[in-house]
Amino acid sequence: MIILALETSCDETSAAVVKDGREVLSNVVYSQMHTHARFGGVVPEVASREHVKSILSVIDEALSQAHIDASALDAVAVTEGPGLIGSLLVGINAAKAFAFAHQKPLLGVHHIAGHIYANQAVTPMVFPLLCLVVSGGHTELILMEDHMRFTLLGQTQDDAIGEAYDKVARVMGLGYPGGPKLDALAQSVTQSHLTMPKTQLEGYDFSYSGLKSHVINTLNTAKMKGETIAQDALAHRFQEAALGQLIDQTRKALANHEVKQVLLAGGVAANQRLRTWLKDAVAPIPLVVPPLSLCTDNAGMIGLAAYYQHQREGLKEGLALNGYSRQTLFDRYR
Ligand code: KG4
Ligand code: ZN
Repeated sequence: MIILALETSCDETSAAVVKDGREVLSNVVYSQMHTHARFGGVVPEVASREHVKSILSVIDEALSQAHIDASALDAVAVTEGPGLIGSLLVGINAAKAFAFAHQKPLLGVHHIAGHIYANQAVTPMVFPLLCLVVSGGHTELILMEDHMRFTLLGQTQDDAIGEAYDKVARVMGLGYPGGPKLDALAQSVTQSHLTMPKTQLEGYDFSYSGLKSHVINTLNTAKMKGETIAQDALAHRFQEAALGQLIDQTRKALANHEVKQVLLAGGVAANQRLRTWLKDAVAPIPLVVPPLSLCTDNAGMIGLAAYYQHQREGLKEGLALNGYSRQTLFDRYR
């Protein structure tokens, strides 16, 4: 089954061609990062306009790189939520027009299902499995007993981890997007004398607003006193505390749930320190991590999830498909 997938939920315009839920034949990502950088973050209206400008050429490029003609496609898939509604609607309307013109069935896929299924490109899922989803909008521990069956074990009570990375980076003057920049700075030192509060929550939940405020207060206090704080030491401490919470809660979940695999998903999965630390923490249970190209937002992951969604739900969605800015994974796949 060959699927053309589109993803436009935030600031990446992407199209991909994916075969049988395993093989990503092409995955074209046009990042708007540079357009938004001068504003210090994503401007929704600007993002929608940029998607309109590039979506058609990105689709053409994905088909041409995969050497696939539209007639050879079995379905079209598109992210239906969550995300910026204006951005989502550009992808959804492009997918509808394409599906209508070429008489193909249309599937609306949840963005986080996409992040999780990015791992299918690495190795087949073996159930039950535990998935740690870490992105700009999500921090969740999810149990899966079968394809497209998601049970929430824990989630952030305030900020998502990627959001905390981005905000701390902005206050430190590292610019946008902050996550990768803060990560690079943190890795330039191995220890620091600074201390950070340790967040320990009941169950499997997470919290990042206290840590974020602590870093901001530390910087403000130093500024008032005319002191300087080493940027690399601060980044290092923040990263150890932020990732440490993920490690602790994942370990706790593994102590109470017998699983065959642990999956890492979402933009923060690109973090090298998290990849190695988590691998050690979950051993001997195998950790699966997506390749870097499938970690941050891309359409390849949507095409991978679409295949399993179609096996479970069939090809029922059509031109009535709509966008949902706040849809949860658990409401979408009940
Ligand atoms: O999944 P994603 O592309 O978009 C959302 O669905 O949110 O994730 C983007 C997030 C941003 O917050 C970005 O700063 C973060 O992932 N990120 C990182 C790294 N690379 C991306 N955070 C920490 N370390 C990284 N290397
Ligand atoms: Zn994402």
